[in-house]
Amino acid sequence: MTLLCLLQGFCSLASYGEDLEVLHWWTSDGERAAALYLQDTLAEQGITWVDAAIPGGGGEGAMAVLKSRVLQGAAPAAAQIIGPDIQNWAALGFLGHFNIVALAHDWPNILHPTVNQLLQYQGQYVAVPFGIHRINGLWVNRALLAETGLAVPQHWDEFFTLAEKFRAMGVIALVHGNEPWQNATLFETLVLSVGGPSLYRAVFEQLDETAILSDSFAQALSLLSQLKGLMDPEINGRTWPQATRLLADGQAGMQIMGDWVGGELTAWQASDRVLCASVPETAEEHLYSIDTMVMFKNLAVSSYQGQLNFAETMTRTDVQLNYNRLKGSVPVRLDIEPEALSDCAQISYRLFKANQAQGTLAPSLAHSMVATAEVEDVFVKVIHEFFQTPNRPVLQVQQELVRNLKSIRK
Ligand code: GAL
Repeated sequence: MTLLCLLQGFCSLASYGEDLEVLHWWTSDGERAAALYLQDTLAEQGITWVDAAIPGGGGEGAMAVLKSRVLQGAAPAAAQIIGPDIQNWAALGFLGHFNIVALAHDWPNILHPTVNQLLQYQGQYVAVPFGIHRINGLWVNRALLAETGLAVPQHWDEFFTLAEKFRAMGVIALVHGNEPWQNATLFETLVLSVGGPSLYRAVFEQLDETAILSDSFAQALSLLSQLKGLMDPEINGRTWPQATRLLADGQAGMQIMGDWVGGELTAWQASDRVLCASVPETAEEHLYSIDTMVMFKNLAVSSYQGQLNFAETMTRTDVQLNYNRLKGSVPVRLDIEPEALSDCAQISYRLFKANQAQGTLAPSLAHSMVATAEVEDVFVKVIHEFFQTPNRPVLQVQQELVRNLKSIRK
């Protein structure tokens, strides 16, 4: 029974036997396990999560499907939309709001301020928070690392030394998939690594020309081409779970990817085989993406009730802990006991809070936390093309970025 129907006085189980179609891009084993947990949790309350999963990490495919469905007037009840793009959808009038749940459950005080801000449009809560991912993750195969006798690399010279050892052992030094979003995800961690949150924000948030033409940014581009040299030839079309599988099975030594990798390892009961660390030089940084879902309006009242129930359920402490444990992300609530989290998650949770307090969080470019879709597309496209021709002079790439960003801002 939710607050709304109590206030509206027409709670009857009948009104709950509702189907809620949920469109999202969670198709890997770990992602599916987390979604399945939510499905079961909602089913306990008579709500049927009708799954509309669209394959493709990072969500590009899902967003294309969502846009065409909305244009056809066939919006789902709920959809995974993340970052400032939520504002655009709300401004277009597509989204329902659920202040009644948010205020009744004190979201303004129980959620991280960064999360709170993301969920609201003109003072109305128009999105439901799920979890916070840390993207500057370095994942290392434990057994292979032990064989090298080396420590987890904190700095790039140590990273390349370890990579050489892995190569000499006949395994893939750095496993990766050559997809635009994966390349952008890797690259943004390098910008944070060489220039810290200040360069990161100057480039991706302020689109500052001086920062894009800077030596530090050039260094990040050179680092990307160096890292490609540590990869195997089979990277084309490889998905991130396929890369994680090679890492878990000891065919690769390292992977740089968001902590959805942790969710995958949990689903495979392989967390003991791979350790989580930070991309070199970013041990105290948090490059984040926050998973959220919006609720489309103009649906039957019972669906609206289901949507409210969904919002209420998602922020419950037990649901937050269980869902995020499966997904590899960390809770959106401020009042979580860190001991309730895994070792990896404790680091992410602590760093998110610390960097939030200092104003040094790094919102993901590749996962739509910082820029408009147009700006994101410019960076993703230019970086992906550079990754295909890594010997290209980096100054050319910097100048191309400045030119292309200028052209979309005319
Ligand atoms: C991100 C999303 C994560 C994760 C990842 C890989 O954009 O926020 O939840 O699933 O894509 O698909």
